Amino acid sequence: MPNIVVVGTQWGDEGKGKVVDVLTPHVNVVVRYSGGNNAGHTVVVGREKYVLHSIPSGILHNGCRCVVGCGVVVDPGSLIEEMESLVQRGVTLDGNLFISKNAHVIMPYHPALDRASEAKLGARRIGTTLKGVGPAYVDKAARVGIRMADLLDERLFREKVEANLAQKNRLLREIYDAQTFRVEEILGPYLRYAGWLAPYITDTALLLNRWIENGYSVLFEGAQATMLDLDHGTYPYVTSSSTTTGGACTGTGVPPTRIHGALGVAKAYATRVGSGPFPTEMQGAIAEEIRARGNEYGATTGRPRRCGWFDAVVLRYAVRINGLDTVAVTKLDVLDQCETIRVCTGYRYRGDLITEFPEDESVLAGAEPEYEEITGWMAPTTGAKHEGDLPAKARRYLERLEELMGVPLCLVSTGPQRDETIVCDDSPLPRWFPGVRASLL
Ligand code: IMP
Repeated sequence: MPNIVVVGTQWGDEGKGKVVDVLTPHVNVVVRYSGGNNAGHTVVVGREKYVLHSIPSGILHNGCRCVVGCGVVVDPGSLIEEMESLVQRGVTLDGNLFISKNAHVIMPYHPALDRASEAKLGARRIGTTLKGVGPAYVDKAARVGIRMADLLDERLFREKVEANLAQKNRLLREIYDAQTFRVEEILGPYLRYAGWLAPYITDTALLLNRWIENGYSVLFEGAQATMLDLDHGTYPYVTSSSTTTGGACTGTGVPPTRIHGALGVAKAYATRVGSGPFPTEMQGAIAEEIRARGNEYGATTGRPRRCGWFDAVVLRYAVRINGLDTVAVTKLDVLDQCETIRVCTGYRYRGDLITEFPEDESVLAGAEPEYEEITGWMAPTTGAKHEGDLPAKARRYLERLEELMGVPLCLVSTGPQRDETIVCDDSPLPRWFPGVRASLL
């Protein structure tokens, strides 16, 4: 049974939630390995729309085991809210949800530090989601973080909160001129959260490896995306975790030898929220049009997303860094009304043509995209289920993306519903999950 990583190839919001939702019936376990409640995975099931932030979207499938891995940072209050809303809608969590003992906890001072630091950066701000994710990872790396297991030991938890507050309060007061916290105001709610979450907190690395030994198939659900990866993204305008496929191992405790493949998800165009370089960013009316048609507003913050053309340089980079076997293209239908579609095939920097993604911040800032223009199909593709249902020009567009990326397409999403999906023949997907096509008809 294959264990596959699903990863975003651009700047997030590629529609990973839907792709994971389509593949979940064919696996036994879905695990989140990075990020926190900065993520917003939207899944539409029939008339119901679910926005998940910390829990893998596999939870919407009865019997699928869902794991929040050690690479995730957990805001317990927000997680409990999410759990309660799922339970109210009839989702069974007991026996299906497992949270790593080693996952770090987002404490109330983390969002406070996130807000204070962003305010201080002014024009150089990262445009974070303000959920405290960055500061929680700072504490993890500084070895002063609090882990889920610590919540279950009241004495140890108190000691760690006291030690942290002694330092954080000074930082908040003296550097940022911001409000400070009292130990008791944190302990009260957090110990209540601990009682709530205790049955779900466990050694998930052990569980995952045992399940794999017993022949279970695991899907690793990436959050954010390649260009937001702490090491490989557009640093410093990135998130603070390892969002690429490498993070799937460290963020779960499953070794690389037990992972069999990697599937990237890319929009048929591109979007980005927050600050930072975005070479193919559109300007003016076309950006407005794509934003409106693609409903490009953040699932977590509601912020309008910056929109741009498909960047094949970024995709080739994502294929290399993640070792992608195949790519799923989403939101093809958003381009249905475009007379001309642009695809970036390289960058021009100081007169030279660059065809590989430049990791150097200053090169990227000065890089001008080189576009290829493709005639739009100007016909509806919404809801198409077979490659043959697509207009010839739409098929040509997808073939061109495939040529430029150098890996085969596996899925094309033509709408938010599960069955508004095309399964492409020449990809590893039908081999990994033999029932996938039949399940979408
Ligand atoms: P942080 O993860 O909140 O620290 O934000 C760092 C950067 O990552 C900002 O540009 C955010 O907009 C971006 N980001 C974080 N989570 C997501 C996501 O789920 N989708 C898209 N962008 C995200």
